[in-house]
Amino acid sequence: MILVTGGAGFIGSNFVLDWLAQSDEPVINLDALTYAGNLENLTDLSGDPRHLFIHGDIGNFDLVAKLLADQKPRAVINFAAESHVDRSIHGPEDFIQTNIVGTFHLLEAVRAYWSDLAGEAKANFRFLHVSTDEVYGSLEKDDPAFRETSRYEPNSPYSASKAASDHLVRAYHHTYGLPVLTTNCSNNYGPCHFPEKLIPLVIHNALAGKPLPIYGDGQQIRDWLYVKDHCSAIRRVLEAGRVGETYNIGGWNEKSNLEVVHTLCTILDELSPRGDGKPYEEQITYVKDRPGHDRRYAIDASKIERELGWRPAETFDTGIRKTVRWYLDNQAWVSNVTSGAYRQWLDKNYEARA
Ligand code: NAD
Ligand code: TYD
Repeated sequence: MILVTGGAGFIGSNFVLDWLAQSDEPVINLDALTYAGNLENLTDLSGDPRHLFIHGDIGNFDLVAKLLADQKPRAVINFAAESHVDRSIHGPEDFIQTNIVGTFHLLEAVRAYWSDLAGEAKANFRFLHVSTDEVYGSLEKDDPAFRETSRYEPNSPYSASKAASDHLVRAYHHTYGLPVLTTNCSNNYGPCHFPEKLIPLVIHNALAGKPLPIYGDGQQIRDWLYVKDHCSAIRRVLEAGRVGETYNIGGWNEKSNLEVVHTLCTILDELSPRGDGKPYEEQITYVKDRPGHDRRYAIDASKIERELGWRPAETFDTGIRKTVRWYLDNQAWVSNVTSGAYRQWLDKNYEARA
């Protein structure tokens, strides 16, 4: 079996669902169920004996050590993190706690477990750390895309905390020989994405008749990857990645934020037109920029293609259409996650930008 951390969040839950759709190898899912963790993402697995959910913190050494000793997974895949840049600006402490201190305790528990393994179990064990392209900092318009050798230059408390966790993972390989793999991925989108992030927020606000907030001039560029493609890349790295290596994962889909929002408006105009017949883009509103806003991210994903034969299956056009359809078909999911605490977050993040 494998142990997944953060498997009730956006990418983790997609990963668990995909994993069990493709294999019968059981998954232990350790998640602290922060605001971003949602067991509703996993309702398709209720009663499925291949999925064991454990409510707990990656920073709880005793809990993780016991879990590892009892369940004896062949791999640990670490998705658990605080993941939203704007929240890291308003309150960095949770990011330091989970992304750095939590990863450290997790690594310690995994190291102790792995050290006691023997033979093939020890040789085949893997710790896969899921990270972000944001650790590389910001690119100018014509700079080459991030490669695995690009310098770490994190600019937000979120990216700095992820960079620190990447360094710890690296150090545990170099110092203790822990068989690690690290993936640095670009912006994901798709089902079960919490509507604090650009794409689900815009879909949600559009349908609710609210403003579609564009930070600054909207010309910031991100590379977008459909979440199921991220999941297949992680499965491939786990299967065949070279121990100690890092792999950049991206969609070859650089888009400005404004382009993304216009695309969403056009698809919504087609699939769920406004009652008054006007286009959704009338709701676009420019708001105060994010402090320290990274201008451009771009991923060179040629290493994973060359070494492991992975390429994304979706283009932005196909993936974004599937995503809009998912949100239209799952309005109950959206209303459940956009209750009390979510509204407080919107007040905190958007009131000051008006
Ligand atoms: P998310 O915020 O949707 O989910 C994070 C999950 O981790 C939640 O279920 C939460 O409850 C859980 N969690 C948080 N703190 C925990 C702790 N201390 N112990 C156990 N569980 C805890 O995040 P996501 O978008 O699914 O991202 C998953 C991982 O992928 C993160 O490590 C993130 O840095 C990385 N990543 C995300 C993106 C993206 O676009 N979303 C891109 C590249 C990399
Ligand atoms: P986000 O989804 O928060 O991901 P990240 O900051 O990790 O890239 O934001 C994506 C881009 O969209 C980023 O450049 C910030 C911008 N953005 C807005 O313009 N308006 C918004 O309301 C949000 C949430 C993000």
